[in-house]
Amino acid sequence: MRCLLPALAAVLCLAQENDPRKLAPYYPTPETVVEKMLQLGGLKTGEKMFDLGSGDGRIVIMAARKFGADSTGVEFDQSLWKQSTDRIKSLGLAKKARIILGDIMQQDYSSADLLTVYLLPDSNDRVRPLLEKQLKKGARIVAHDFEFAGWTPEKTVTIEDDGEGRSHTLFLYRR
Ligand SMILES: C[S@@+](CC[C@H](N)C(=O)[O-])C[C@H]1O[C@@H](n2cnc3c(N)ncnc32)[C@H](O)[C@@H]1O
Repeated sequence: MRCLLPALAAVLCLAQENDPRKLAPYYPTPETVVEKMLQLGGLKTGEKMFDLGSGDGRIVIMAARKFGADSTGVEFDQSLWKQSTDRIKSLGLAKKARIILGDIMQQDYSSADLLTVYLLPDSNDRVRPLLEKQLKKGARIVAHDFEFAGWTPEKTVTIEDDGEGRSHTLFLYRR
């Protein structure tokens, strides 16, 4: 399955439109994998986590609901922002979770204990200098499927089958 990852990246790249800010198209992480990402990141009650490009908000919502974290998503797609914000409100999570309508590259992550990232390889290259500048010592990053070139993962986990026949690789980094 690993050999299919470049093909997946190519498909996702092709799906990108011309917005130069766009770091990846919407492609949600399966819920079972979301839980493993948050477990791998060692997320604890009250910790601050951010999901960079939060899609429908599933990672942010699980982080607040199941792990008791203070969670923030960043999403520039207006309809995904609205969908995730409405869900957070309907679940009564507004004190613990929120979605910023904005660009990943324009945010402050200096308070983060954990970041989750499901972006493309080139996008990780673009985000990396920002994270190196902003993240506090000890902050963790869990990347889904695509590594951060130049960083050495503390742990790599492969999920052979997500129930839909697709494998996933998770990379844990610590600053
Ligand atoms: C591959 S999806 C991942 C969604 C979610 N994190 C998950 O794992 O289920 C990437 C998301 O990033 C968003 N995105 C891409 N570039 C962005 C940017 N510059 N600022 C904010 N969001 C962005 C896309 O709209 C999309 O929802």
